[in-house]
Amino acid sequence: MSKNIVLGVSGSVAAYRACDLARELMRRGFAVRVCLTGSAEKFVTRSLFEALTGYACLVDTFEEPISGRMAHIDWARQASALVIAPATANTIAKVAHGIGDDMLTTIALAYQGPMLIAPAMNPTMYASETNQAAMAILADRGVWFVEPTVGDVACGENGQGKFADVQRIADEVVALARTSKLLAGKKVLITSGPTQEPIDMARFISNRSSGKMGAALAQAALLMGAEVTVISGPTAVRIPVGVKLIRVKTAVEMLDAGLLEVSEADFVIGAAAVADYRPAQASHSKLRRSDAHLSLELVPNPDVIAALAAKAKPGSKVIGFAAEPSEDTGYAIEKMARKGLSAIVFNDVSQPNQGFESETNRLQFLTPDGKSADSGLLSKTQCALWLIHQVVDSISS
Ligand code: CTP
Repeated sequence: MSKNIVLGVSGSVAAYRACDLARELMRRGFAVRVCLTGSAEKFVTRSLFEALTGYACLVDTFEEPISGRMAHIDWARQASALVIAPATANTIAKVAHGIGDDMLTTIALAYQGPMLIAPAMNPTMYASETNQAAMAILADRGVWFVEPTVGDVACGENGQGKFADVQRIADEVVALARTSKLLAGKKVLITSGPTQEPIDMARFISNRSSGKMGAALAQAALLMGAEVTVISGPTAVRIPVGVKLIRVKTAVEMLDAGLLEVSEADFVIGAAAVADYRPAQASHSKLRRSDAHLSLELVPNPDVIAALAAKAKPGSKVIGFAAEPSEDTGYAIEKMARKGLSAIVFNDVSQPNQGFESETNRLQFLTPDGKSADSGLLSKTQCALWLIHQVVDSISS
């Protein structure tokens, strides 16, 4: 991937510090194209950035430096990272909610890769519920934030709102650019969501899996440059654009779909909550109510991840999840061995805010050599990024 960066500068007093940031990024080998908002132009000029970077600067939505090529699409396609620094509360809110009323926010809409935002604003604005909610939306989509520091800001207040250190932002951009290439050329296969095992034409056995973890893993792998396939049981969760999505209902369908894909995959992640049993016979019509007791005979389902591990190509890594009702990792370690896995992700679902249906999660990554790493409590998106890093690090170490 090229090292093209689009640097978006919005109308904060710290806009002048984006000049240093542009130079710092160039020193680190990036080609930097700058897009200013109208408010940023009240503080800094486009000619300043053009002289610094050697590239035309964009401000208005309909500018077309190359005639016939829509610049917002062109720049979005070429960028290996979009950095918005400094970012005002206004620009953050617009990017979070999909408003494209200037060139920078339109580029953000057209852009699909890794994004880093370094806010700078008055501390009261920064701490406001509206701004924090907009930042949370973006963080959940995998946007990296370099948080402002605490100190005296231009308006005379003291608090968190000062533009972060330029060297630190540049370091984070380098890390982000590295992340965006970690899985370039690799294929990642993810099972996700619950399965539904039919009892009759209207009823089924299922579980509380929302599919959020699988979707977040798909997004993280996509951000890192992988080609991603998700085999998902029935969920309402949004699967990121760019993922090959195979929808299934039952464990047997999940296994069949997985077996068709697994020989291509470099990484297989079993995030699905596969039903361990299914009714021995599903009625094609509707079971009728009566006063008699009703027993359902259940038969075991195939173990999808174990079967995929057995068929995975040599050198590939197969990672399972173990959602356990206590902090005891013993069962997870036993599952890793029994299913022939390269690693297992332990998740204590007895704790609040971890596991099924929750927005957050806390994971432990366990490998057969006895090593373990703990993510701490994070949003599912941040957990997914953390986890994919663990997977990649565990192969390179
Ligand atoms: N899994 C699977 N197919 C199954 C059951 C589980 O692929 N039929 C996968 C899950 O996607 C997960 C891992 O196996 O990656 C562990 O699932 P879990 O339900 O904890 O394991 P089980 O073997 O079903 O163990 P338990 O008896 O504790 O439920």
